[in-house]
Amino acid sequence: MKEIQRSKVKDLLQMQAGGEVVAKGWVRTKRGNKEIAFIALNDGSTINNIQIVVDKTRTDEALLAQVTTGACLRVQGRLVESVGSGQAVEIQADEIEVYGPCDPMRFPLQKKDTSFEYLRTVAHMRPRTNTFGAILRLRSQMAFAIHSYFHSKGFVYLNTPLITASDAEGAGQMFQVTTLDLNNVPKNKKGQPDFSKDFFGKQTSLTVSGQLEGELGATALGEIYTFGPTFRAENSNTPRHLAEFWMIEPEMAFYDIKDNMDLAEDFIKHLVRYALENCYDDIKFLNDRYDNGTGGEDGGLIERLKSVISTDFVRLEYTEGIRILEEAVKNGVQFEYPVYWGVDLQSEHERYLVEKHFKRPVILTGYPKDIKAFYMKQDENGKTVRAMDILFPKIGEIIGGSEREADLQKLETRIDELKMSRRTLEWYLDTRRFGSCPHSGFGLGFERLLLFVTGMTNIRDVIPFPRTPKNCEF
Ligand code: 4AD
Ligand code: MG
Repeated sequence: MKEIQRSKVKDLLQMQAGGEVVAKGWVRTKRGNKEIAFIALNDGSTINNIQIVVDKTRTDEALLAQVTTGACLRVQGRLVESVGSGQAVEIQADEIEVYGPCDPMRFPLQKKDTSFEYLRTVAHMRPRTNTFGAILRLRSQMAFAIHSYFHSKGFVYLNTPLITASDAEGAGQMFQVTTLDLNNVPKNKKGQPDFSKDFFGKQTSLTVSGQLEGELGATALGEIYTFGPTFRAENSNTPRHLAEFWMIEPEMAFYDIKDNMDLAEDFIKHLVRYALENCYDDIKFLNDRYDNGTGGEDGGLIERLKSVISTDFVRLEYTEGIRILEEAVKNGVQFEYPVYWGVDLQSEHERYLVEKHFKRPVILTGYPKDIKAFYMKQDENGKTVRAMDILFPKIGEIIGGSEREADLQKLETRIDELKMSRRTLEWYLDTRRFGSCPHSGFGLGFERLLLFVTGMTNIRDVIPFPRTPKNCEF
């Protein structure tokens, strides 16, 4: 007899009733009465389950006892129209095989504790929950949408190195990479670690950004983007920071700051639109379960996503942003951190501008040069740079970028002022020495985007296995 091919649950739910089918997946729930058992089976292809109907009088009792939440099954049977209201079709089981039973007493996913905090402690199992299934499918779809967006615009996908000898952002928050024996570190004459004996013959770290190498690509290929893991050893235990996160960094020759803003706004709107069009079931699930707008300040997840697509982002100078915040303070708004010209904005400030003042995303430009990286194009006034941060509701900064300083001398002076090492950046400075060109780029934090698209409030819940201070499980 010819074996019947397994169908995915997603496809089964679209099929016409009538045929003999095979489904494989994990039991979400089992309920029923003396004669009939109903099993909800999920295989990760969709948020929806297929209902399996089992005639108990024709099924081995011991076998059915093994069908508990979490168990893995193969089910063969007839796809029939469902009498129940929840679904169009269901499977009338003829044959059930238990691939892997699941001890209900020991299974880490219990109905009684499904808090996000608890689920983080069992992150190896949480993909089996409806919520994390939805989030991980969305994550995958968004990655695809990012590649296809840039591909359709003719951008070249550039793989930049993860191990580097330079600190792109100059913030000194790097994880060192070494093969030196930490119990017996070779020392130089000054008594410092002798990195010439290290694997690369110099001090190296995990990258905080692919931008500098991205600029090498853009000044040759025109338009590139990177999409890869990024590492920051900042000890900030916030719901928006990870030690290992993914970043998308487009870099474009001949773009000025305005072109850069236009691209970033179009890009992010495209991604949100793509999510609504291609992942509606998962988004609807997250909306209805956690974020449906009842009792909230806004209309919930779907409303927020729709409103971002349909509105022009505000474009605002930093100086003007500070004025609005100072005005708010005068009118009694309380912030934890002080507001004055020159300060690096905290997310409470960013969110005030976005959620309270403008009620839509804001692109903030013209930041003081002292709070931004060395590579940003300096304005004539000597005080500000052509930076742009995109600020989003519920999140704060989602994108950071700028037009780049194309003038060799200005760049060298800035590097010296910041007491950075010019020697380790000579290769980068060559882009300005040989055929320098105006160019711009930005970085989108992939998990920050996912916070927005899923409505989750903690960044640890939008990456499969989060890395944060004192936490490197799984
Ligand atoms: O603003 P950032 O530091 O900019 C850069 O790294 C530039 N090199 C980008 C560029 O112009 N090519 O980081 C960019 C974005 C932030 O806006 C934020 O969304 C995200 O990366 N990000 C983080 N996401 C999670 N955890 C962290 N610790 C993050 N730090 C930055
Ligand atoms: Mg930034």
